Amino acid sequence: MKYGHFDDDAREYVITTPKTPLPWINYLGNQEFFSLISNTCGGYSFCKDAKLLRITRYRYNNIPYDNNGKYFYIKDGDTIWNPGWQPTKTTLDEYECRHGLGYSKFKGVKNGVEANVLTFVPMNDRCEVSRIRIKNTTSTAKELKLFSYVEWCLWNADDDERNFQRNLSTGEVEVIDSAIFHKTEYRERRNHFAVYSVNTKVDGFDTSRESFLGPYNGNDTPDVVTNGACTNSVASGWSPVAVHQINVTLAPGEEKSFVFVLGYIENDENDKWESHGVIKKDLAWEMLDRYKTDEQVDKAFDILVDYWKSLLSKYHVKSSNDKVDRMVNIWNQYQCMVTFNMSRSASYYESGIGRGMGFRDSCQDLLGFVHLIPDRARARIIDIASTQFQDGSAYHQYQPLTKKGNADIGSGFNDDPLWLIAGTSAYIRETGDDSILDEMVPFDNDESVATPLMNHLKRSFDYIVNHKGPHNLPLIGRADWNDCLNLNCFSAHPGESFQTFGPSEGPVAESVFIAGMFVKYGEEYAQLCELKGDKADAEYARCEVQKMYDAVLKDGWDGEWFIRAYDAYSHKVGSKECEEGQIFIEPQGFCVLAGIGVKEGLAKKAMDSVKEKLDTKYGIMILQPAYTKYHLELGEVSSYPPGYKENAGIFCHNNPWVSIAETVLGDGDRAFEIYKKTCPAYIEDISEIHCTEPYVYSQMVAGKDAKFFGQGKNSWLTGTAAWTFTNISQYILGIYPTLEGLSVNPCIPAEFGDFNITRVYRGVTYNIEIKNPNKVQKGVASLTVDGVEVAGNVIPFDDSKKTVNVIATMN
Ligand code: GLC
Ligand code: GLC
Repeated sequence: MKYGHFDDDAREYVITTPKTPLPWINYLGNQEFFSLISNTCGGYSFCKDAKLLRITRYRYNNIPYDNNGKYFYIKDGDTIWNPGWQPTKTTLDEYECRHGLGYSKFKGVKNGVEANVLTFVPMNDRCEVSRIRIKNTTSTAKELKLFSYVEWCLWNADDDERNFQRNLSTGEVEVIDSAIFHKTEYRERRNHFAVYSVNTKVDGFDTSRESFLGPYNGNDTPDVVTNGACTNSVASGWSPVAVHQINVTLAPGEEKSFVFVLGYIENDENDKWESHGVIKKDLAWEMLDRYKTDEQVDKAFDILVDYWKSLLSKYHVKSSNDKVDRMVNIWNQYQCMVTFNMSRSASYYESGIGRGMGFRDSCQDLLGFVHLIPDRARARIIDIASTQFQDGSAYHQYQPLTKKGNADIGSGFNDDPLWLIAGTSAYIRETGDDSILDEMVPFDNDESVATPLMNHLKRSFDYIVNHKGPHNLPLIGRADWNDCLNLNCFSAHPGESFQTFGPSEGPVAESVFIAGMFVKYGEEYAQLCELKGDKADAEYARCEVQKMYDAVLKDGWDGEWFIRAYDAYSHKVGSKECEEGQIFIEPQGFCVLAGIGVKEGLAKKAMDSVKEKLDTKYGIMILQPAYTKYHLELGEVSSYPPGYKENAGIFCHNNPWVSIAETVLGDGDRAFEIYKKTCPAYIEDISEIHCTEPYVYSQMVAGKDAKFFGQGKNSWLTGTAAWTFTNISQYILGIYPTLEGLSVNPCIPAEFGDFNITRVYRGVTYNIEIKNPNKVQKGVASLTVDGVEVAGNVIPFDDSKKTVNVIATMN
């Protein structure tokens, strides 16, 4: 069942009922000011950091599920309604929500009144603009009352929901005409405040939540709206809010438009007062002046729309398959940008107060957005590498505001170092900018020990070489990619963190997955060494990679598939010898995509085993059989009920690894079949089962052992975005950036048909036409570049041209 539809021309998903199975959200903002907004106007805003500079208050884990947002109430006689349906939930005559790229639109119609809301965060500004247009479509005049409502968060979102003994006394506001200023803690150590204003004279306001709602009401029945009159309350402590009242008279057919701005202002620390106790507002007035008129709003909106248009034009496919086209051209790239901005911090499943930026997460996110914003990718790589330790290991997370490694979680996740190679290699393959390797980068943010980035990569590589276990496979440390496979943890008491309990490393437990990564990224590292003219290092790296390859075949192969790991007792994990958890997805995907066992025929066997043992109609499960009891020696993986999360859920992130692995083997039908199973556009019509947004990936879909098989969770912030984009764009459609130039080598279903790709690469636009007259799945027989046939698959890079026309014929 569907709850809406795609509008590809507008690049929007159109939700046609407010009663989606879960809130279906969107992200507004590209630089510093961000908002999350649901299809019923729930959500919140923050500036720069979702934990430390939270602007409006949201209630996670509440009822109803999506509690608090930025609401407009319309009072029309005795009928009170919201254009986005919540919170009054008054039945609307018409409802529509359009989530677009960086904006959302809402349309609500009730008793002949039509309200259209457009909400977006303008480029280069720290505010959210909401324009509401109200139209009287009846033949009699209407006397309406419009109320706005936001609830302020007292900045630190973590403290805001815990420290009531203090917070209920600190709230402060100022009101000047239509502008309501939130200035809690400004009197002491803050130099920032927020403002909520509207471009018209108001008929009343409220800033005290109790006055607005009444002490016993929720925001579905505010006293002020019921009574039709604000009380002009000025908050002192408790919970400050911002409410405007506008009395709107509309003649038949008349429409009026109001522009609301929710802004964040930072003043100079030494010049923050206008007079004693009165905040300096010049910057706020300037901001409000920028969005005073409809024309200004239209202009700012057009700039935003153009920004996304040009950004997404860097990879554009035109095939006979509209689902692939819409995911590649719009939604998958859009989600990659959101994961770039948010990492894993703020979604409807991540509260924004927990994790900072993950080392491995952010490195993998790079794979998905590097072609879109190479400059910011460069800066991100330097930030990440600056949190590495001198021995090559790394802080598992860092804070976006301070860019410092997070000591609470520390290091010991032994896959982390290799992801830095993956991200850096992707950046250089994309941009050709190898000067980044000479950039001086500190260790643990200590500039006095800075070395060129290349040396960081060397230490990443050497870390694995120097941390091997009894089978010459990499030691796993606290965990590898699978945060929940905690082989050195042995946690027996509730509340102990699986991530940090126990030693950060054991001398025995090994990971075959890291071995696969080492083979893949070890080779990419060797290529970077060559690029730098360092032949000896390249040779040494390849020799170590070969040793690892051999170790995997010797002790990492189980007969029908790759083993997952060896535990702290050197017992196999993910082997037919195990009682539960006999086969895991990660080593199958990664070893094969790294090329391990291909020539020996083992790779094909591993893929067959995945298909036979792990595949379901909704995607490939992470392991089987699910753990039905807690295994002290395995940790968190066995703590989840069977079928959920890392315990036999369909962890979408590693499905593309298997799909890529299939392209390595040349099976385009199977690679695409895997792609389709988790692809949002393909599962749109089972939204009642899948539940999460049909335009983005979720981290996890419940596996077949779960009660709610097929149900998605943790949508938006997942490495799935970057990996599926890498898979579809570089492996299935086959436009892969190499150090020398773009390689064209699709691996598609026999029936996929011809297709065209426009790809902007190092400043040159490539128009690539791919023909498949004989319906093969892989293999390019000829490549013509601007009319000249070239040998091989790689388009030689030539920056003297602006546009290059390529014809690739498969056979
Ligand atoms: C989460 C984490 C990621 C990890 C994965 C598997 O998505 O953000 O770092 O690799 O879970 O445990
Ligand atoms: C939990 C989750 C896992 C995530 C980790 C991040 O272990 O199950 O998916 O990667 O937390 O800290």
